[in-house]
Amino acid sequence: MKALVYHGPGQRSWESAPDPRVVEPTDVVVKIDSATICGTDLHILKGDVPEVEPGTILGHEAVGTVVELGSAVTTLAVGDRVLVSCISSCGRCRFCKEARYGLCTGGGGWIFGHLIDGLQAEYARVPFADTSVYRVPEGLSDEQVLFLADILPTAYECGVLNGRVEPGDTVAIVGAGPIGLAAIMTAQLHTPGRIVAIDLADARLAKALDFGADIVINNGSEDALPRVMELTDGLGADVAIEAVGVPETFELCADLIRPGGRLANVGVHGHPATLHLERLWIRDVLITTGLVDTSTTPKLLRLIRDGRLDPTTFTTHRFALEDAMAAYDVFGAAATTNALKVVLGAPRVEALGVEPVEVATA
Ligand SMILES: NC(=O)c1ccc[n+]([C@@H]2O[C@H](COP(=O)([O-])OP(=O)(O)OC[C@H]3O[C@@H](n4cnc5c(N)ncnc54)[C@H](O)[C@@H]3O)[C@@H](O)[C@H]2O)c1
Ligand SMILES: [Zn+2]
Ligand SMILES: [Zn+2]
Repeated sequence: MKALVYHGPGQRSWESAPDPRVVEPTDVVVKIDSATICGTDLHILKGDVPEVEPGTILGHEAVGTVVELGSAVTTLAVGDRVLVSCISSCGRCRFCKEARYGLCTGGGGWIFGHLIDGLQAEYARVPFADTSVYRVPEGLSDEQVLFLADILPTAYECGVLNGRVEPGDTVAIVGAGPIGLAAIMTAQLHTPGRIVAIDLADARLAKALDFGADIVINNGSEDALPRVMELTDGLGADVAIEAVGVPETFELCADLIRPGGRLANVGVHGHPATLHLERLWIRDVLITTGLVDTSTTPKLLRLIRDGRLDPTTFTTHRFALEDAMAAYDVFGAAATTNALKVVLGAPRVEALGVEPVEVATA
């Protein structure tokens, strides 16, 4: 088969790889029908995730068809269409029993395109299949469910639920990339009073309005803090969701929340941020961090099936799976291509309106 293989920092290629097989009785093999690329894949390519070994197939978000079953798999059949998500669950460890699959200590958690071969490939081995994949309801397209593999449960669980968004709340969302936009989309399930989106890029803020933000602030050209204070009678936002992953935005979120407010961190941080306890200790705030568990995936899937949630608006570009290299170029140059999510696996059609752009690749 062919797959997108990581060869060390800055190096990737679409190349031949061994056909995956069932190794453990709880495995299935899936033919990948649609996959997508995550910002985390770009982090890996920058060398920020050193535990990814050169030679690993990348990708942790896909929809596929079961083609081979391990002997212990009881709830799936060959031919089933399934969502394969960024988090796998052994189903047996303490954390899996508490539905905190992201923390799985039994061999699951974030493994695809990280600790084992991933999903940007023609076929993939999927461990713990019974407890990890989701059957796609009949009538739903790949693209309707694909973004449940990561961004939607991440934004909903680590942002909206950890932030305890309630009806009427003013919710400030800092960062309007795919994760921030998914937070804007899923916060609306809780009927906030106002969603304020804050980003440095006007193109992303325009998307934020499309996704349901009420007010946008470009904090490159305007100081976000006085604007939010003015909007909230000097109190601050009920909830701030950090969806960037740099110290400034975490510290901004801590300033944006009202007394008794909630700060939900979603961003992946590589550097320490300052926690101003000298100001916060008296303000009764709640600060949460989290890796996605994907425990809300079944609920989000039902909301999509029932027409309450339409994530297809994240797709900005479509490529054939074998054009994964060009897809990475477009996704990696989001500032110029305005890419949000690129879908791999669309039939190879030259006229999809996608012009792969010239960007430097290693
Ligand atoms: N906790 C988890 O389980 C989890 C899972 C997936 C991703 N993440 C993390 O979530 C974060 C967001 O992911 P993404 O894919 O949307 O990233 P992205 O890079 O596509 O988007 C980030 C956005 O933040 C904006 N931004 C950058 N600096 C800013 C600043 N100082 N002020 C305001 N806006 C600023 C950028 O313009 C961009 O629109 C990343 O850190 C990612 O690693 C966390
Ligand atoms: Zn991801
Ligand atoms: Zn487990």
